[in-house]
Amino acid sequence: MVSKTIQYTTVVFISTVAISSLAYVAWWDYKRRNDPSFRKKIRKEHKKIHKHAKAAEERAKQQRTEDLKESLEKIKAEPVPPTAEEREQYFMQHVGVGEQLSVQGPAFHVPAALSFYRALRVYPSPVELIMIYQKTVPEPIFKIVMDLTSMDTKERAEGYYHYFPPPNMNVEVKQILVAAESEEQTRKIVLIARKDFRYGENIYQEHPVVAQLDMDLEGTSKYCSHCFRDISSSLSTIRPDDLLGSTYCSNECQMLASMQSQNLLFGCGPPVPNNVVVGQKERTEEAEIERRASQEAFVNFLKASNWTQVLLVARFCARHVSEEAKKLAPLHTPLLERARLPEPAAGSPQYSFFDHIERLKYLKVEPIDMVMLEHHLLKDVLSKAVDGLEELVDLEMYLVMKGKMAYNAIGVASAGGRNKRPGAKGRIETWEWTRTPYGTNRQIGSALYRVSSYLSHSCSPSVRPSFPTGTNELHLVATRAISKGEELTMAYTNTHGDGDDSIEEAYRKRRVRLARGWKIACECESCTGKKAEIPSATMVPEAKAEEPI
Ligand SMILES: *[C@@H]1O[C@H](CO)[C@@H](O)[C@H](O)[C@H]1NC(C)=O
Ligand SMILES: [Zn+2]
Ligand SMILES: [Zn+2]
Repeated sequence: MVSKTIQYTTVVFISTVAISSLAYVAWWDYKRRNDPSFRKKIRKEHKKIHKHAKAAEERAKQQRTEDLKESLEKIKAEPVPPTAEEREQYFMQHVGVGEQLSVQGPAFHVPAALSFYRALRVYPSPVELIMIYQKTVPEPIFKIVMDLTSMDTKERAEGYYHYFPPPNMNVEVKQILVAAESEEQTRKIVLIARKDFRYGENIYQEHPVVAQLDMDLEGTSKYCSHCFRDISSSLSTIRPDDLLGSTYCSNECQMLASMQSQNLLFGCGPPVPNNVVVGQKERTEEAEIERRASQEAFVNFLKASNWTQVLLVARFCARHVSEEAKKLAPLHTPLLERARLPEPAAGSPQYSFFDHIERLKYLKVEPIDMVMLEHHLLKDVLSKAVDGLEELVDLEMYLVMKGKMAYNAIGVASAGGRNKRPGAKGRIETWEWTRTPYGTNRQIGSALYRVSSYLSHSCSPSVRPSFPTGTNELHLVATRAISKGEELTMAYTNTHGDGDDSIEEAYRKRRVRLARGWKIACECESCTGKKAEIPSATMVPEAKAEEPI
């Protein structure tokens, strides 16, 4: 999936930078195709390479790998120009140098490739550029560029857990091998305590990546649509005029929501800040009407279905866009600083939003009609906001992202949550489940968290999510003493049953919920103890969630 993810970054920001450089590359391609002397030169170099003796080639290859690694380190230590204009200059400069070097013979292949690689680093749409390189850069040089790319990607991918979660969160992600029933060892990703914790101690807290109130509460002025704070008795709620009818507890929440996703999905402001896309085309009135229509269709669907997972995916895509925009034109507002998510530890490579969910488990979502419809509506909203943005979610990607929300979203309920959440309707296969140890019927909304997504389920868990600030900021609390190195687990569902359910009834109910919601056949201590006592006819079939990659 790594290569896939790269594809989905920042396709949007093919602004002045990209457009002018695309023209440049296209010109270069044209020149190569049409200028006989240019072509002859390239052919000559191909021949020269083939004259090299095989053995020498082998030795050279090994040495080259070492050298490339070293050069890659150097390039990565170089600062990236901060503004869009400077990046454009940097890009043009290095493509120019690469082009000059690439016609000076094999001795210059590596330096040429390094220049192309530098240009690639700042290009908003790397995959597209790689495709352009493939067509335009002489093959041996192109191969070196690809070697550099795969070295870099591998390191980013493998180094991820070295930097994330950051040490101050007191937990780490570990891959452990577990002996499955078939005696075959399987890999399991778990969250481990970095130190001892007392009963009731707070282990860490984190803000959601994306959050969504339940649809029956959205637009009712009972809770803030951004932070989920109870505003039912507040006199100063903010109610901007957007199509979803969202309400906020403060200007701050409204601003954050707008910047992160609300404006792109349901608003009518510029979809991407003007300072990011330099010389952004003036949007026509007609385009705005179409954008509005696509948003209305989406909102109608949401209100009719009460589904929120599609909205979590939608907000995720929108927030990804806004984070990428921030990288291109950093807005240092204190507001954004406060809403920060746990950043990987210092010195880490720059990870995008997609990097962060790439490693999360997901459920396999079937493309039934309703799912196809919501996907279509979401794509429409994205493409009507910014041309090409719908590329973020082709159907395959959408199904995976929805599956990630389905598997990892946590139900939010502060102060005990609510009492009369309307039950899900329709076919049970279409019900949306969230991780809620206190019972889904108490939640007011759902949210995706970066670190807490790694908690696995147990019916006798060591931690529980808690929302003591009255918002969707999750605090992870130890439900018993935990020692350093221990795996942390939470209950994905209410494990005690409802009301005066017997132990057997509670057991049966949670097995069904775990199987339906997460495809889990729990093997925790309290379940394996129980398993022996219950006739096997009531057992649910074993099934498993998809492991990433
Ligand atoms: C959606 O929620 C509203 C408000 O609670 C309810 O009236 C409606 O029946 C629900 N629709 C579905 C399909 O669940
Ligand atoms: Zn708020
Ligand atoms: Zn269990």
